[in-house]
Amino acid sequence: MHYHFPLFQSHLDLAHHYWKLIAKRGDIVIDATCGNGQDTRYLSQLVLDDSNGEVWAVDVQKTAIEKAKLFLEQNLSPSICNRVKYYYGCHSTFPKQILPKSIALVVYNLGYLPGGDKQLTTKVETTLKSIEKALSLVKNGGAISITCYPGHNEGAIEQTALLDFFKSLSAKTWSCCHHQWLNRKNSPSLLFIQKKAIHHI
Ligand SMILES: C[S@@+](CC[C@H](N)C(=O)[O-])C[C@H]1O[C@@H](n2cnc3c(N)ncnc32)[C@H](O)[C@@H]1O
Repeated sequence: MHYHFPLFQSHLDLAHHYWKLIAKRGDIVIDATCGNGQDTRYLSQLVLDDSNGEVWAVDVQKTAIEKAKLFLEQNLSPSICNRVKYYYGCHSTFPKQILPKSIALVVYNLGYLPGGDKQLTTKVETTLKSIEKALSLVKNGGAISITCYPGHNEGAIEQTALLDFFKSLSAKTWSCCHHQWLNRKNSPSLLFIQKKAIHHI
């Protein structure tokens, strides 16, 4: 790929830029749609070292979890891999070990797995349920990052529902932004939701 635009080329470049600002070494983060593990690897490199940080990798497809695990084992050291926890199941619930207000960043890469079954796409009802839970897990100053793909039917429905949902959140606690190219056809988009940080004086 040729990088013509110095700030960012894709919605993922922009997402990574924000992740780096939010997720620090030692933090706990969730990849709520781990798929092949590309995003999980990126998050692991940000927050994990041999003894600090925690990454939860969630996916409803067993094959996705297996692929992500193998991909991380091939690309990260064993001591880092040991700090990644896998949850095979729907992200409309999260494991009980994940405590409220403990998470620095929850990442969603919506849609279907590239090269996989397009029927196994994220769905608006479960995505919304998951995001409501994620809001309660995010700590002060933490964030939720969602990449949307309105170029396919279910993705368009999902994006519209998410935009409506985030417009209704209180601006006192949540900063809800949407980034989408205006001059690229069927452009993916990025929703980035931050929770207010509490500063002690
Ligand atoms: C676009 S892919 C994610 C790509 C991935 N982040 C990567 O880096 O390779 C979307 C993933 O969401 C998963 N998914 C769909 N519905 C889900 C649900 N209800 N709960 C958890 N994962 C789900 C799919 O199985 C698929 O792997």
